[in-house]
Amino acid sequence: MSSKQYSQNTPNASKNAMMSPVFIQRYVENKAEVRAELQQGLLAKVATTSPKYLYDALGSRLFEAITELPEYYPTRVEASIFEQFLPEIAAAVGHGDILIDLGAGNCEKAARMFEALGPAKYVAVDISVDFLKQALTTLQRQSPDLPMLGLGMDFSASLELPVEVGTGSRSFFYPGSSIGNFTPTEALLFLRQIHTACKQGAGQGGLLIGVDLVKSSTVLQAAYADALGVTAAFNRNMLLHINQLLGSDFNIAQWQHRALFNTDLSRIEMHLDATEDLTVRWEGGERKFVKNEGIHTENSYKYTVASFTKLLENAGFQAVKPWQDANQQFCVFWAKA
Ligand code: AVJ
Repeated sequence: MSSKQYSQNTPNASKNAMMSPVFIQRYVENKAEVRAELQQGLLAKVATTSPKYLYDALGSRLFEAITELPEYYPTRVEASIFEQFLPEIAAAVGHGDILIDLGAGNCEKAARMFEALGPAKYVAVDISVDFLKQALTTLQRQSPDLPMLGLGMDFSASLELPVEVGTGSRSFFYPGSSIGNFTPTEALLFLRQIHTACKQGAGQGGLLIGVDLVKSSTVLQAAYADALGVTAAFNRNMLLHINQLLGSDFNIAQWQHRALFNTDLSRIEMHLDATEDLTVRWEGGERKFVKNEGIHTENSYKYTVASFTKLLENAGFQAVKPWQDANQQFCVFWAKA
C-alpha cells in the first residue's frame, strides 16, 4: 500500500476516511421457542440444557475469566500456536480472501491475523450484532481501509450467508475449539455447510479452525473443574439465566458443578447435580430432582489430529494442514475447500 493512497487529494482518501462497518441482524430471538426448548430439555429423562444458555452477560464474562485460569490451557495454547506458526499459516491460507469469523465475540483473535492475512474484507458473525458493534467500531479505527461487516445470526442452525458478504474467495475462521460443543455427527454436518459456503465464493477458500485434543483425564478434568471455582460459577450461572428466560425458580444454592471426561465418547461433560431432593417450578410445568440427580449442561468433544483430519475430509475438505504446540495439547487446522 502506498502512502499516496491515504493523502488528502487522492480520490480514495475521502472514501477511506468514511469506511465504517455495516451491520445486519438476522437472528430474532423467539421467546416462546426458547421456553419450549428449555422446558423440553428439563423434562427429558436425563434433564439437558443447551450450552448456549451459559452465555448471558455474566456468563460471557465468567467464560473470559476461565480463559485466564492456570488450568484452562486451550485459549493460551491456541494463541501460542497462531503466534509461532503465523507465517506458515498465512502462507497456507493466502491473501485477499473474505475472512469470515464464526462466533467473533470481541473479534480479538481475528484482528491478530489481519496483518499476516491481509483480508479483502472482514465478516464478523455472532448471535447478536450488539456484541459486535463496539468491537468492530474500534477495529475499524485500527484498520480504516478494511471493509467490515457485522452479522447477527445463529450460524449453528444454518450457515446461509447474505449477499452482503460478497463474492470473493472465502476463508472461514472458527477458533477456540467451539466445534467441541457439537457431537461428531453434528460437527460433520456443520463442516459440510462451511464447505458448501466456501464453494459459493469465487475462489477456492477454506477453513482455519482450532480444535482441542484428547489428553490425560487429569489435565482435562482440571481444565473444567478449576480450583478457584470459576467454571463452577459459569455452570451454575446458567440456572440464573434459565430463571430469567423461563421464569423458573432454580435456587443455585441447591446445585453443584461436576465435570468428567467420558473416555468412550471422547468428551468432557459438565453437569449440575442437585444437592438434595427438590422441585423446580415454572409457569406451565415442574420437574422433581432427587439428591445427586443431574442436569447435563455441556459436552466438549476432544479429537486427535487423525480423527479431526478425517472429519474435515469427510466434510469435503482437502490438503488438511495441522499445527500443534510442542506438548500436543491443541491443534490448528487449515483445510482447503
Ligand atoms: C467455548 C465451548 C470452547 O468447551 O472448552 C469452558 C466452553 N466450558 N469451560 C470449552 C467451556 C467450560 C468452551 N468452549
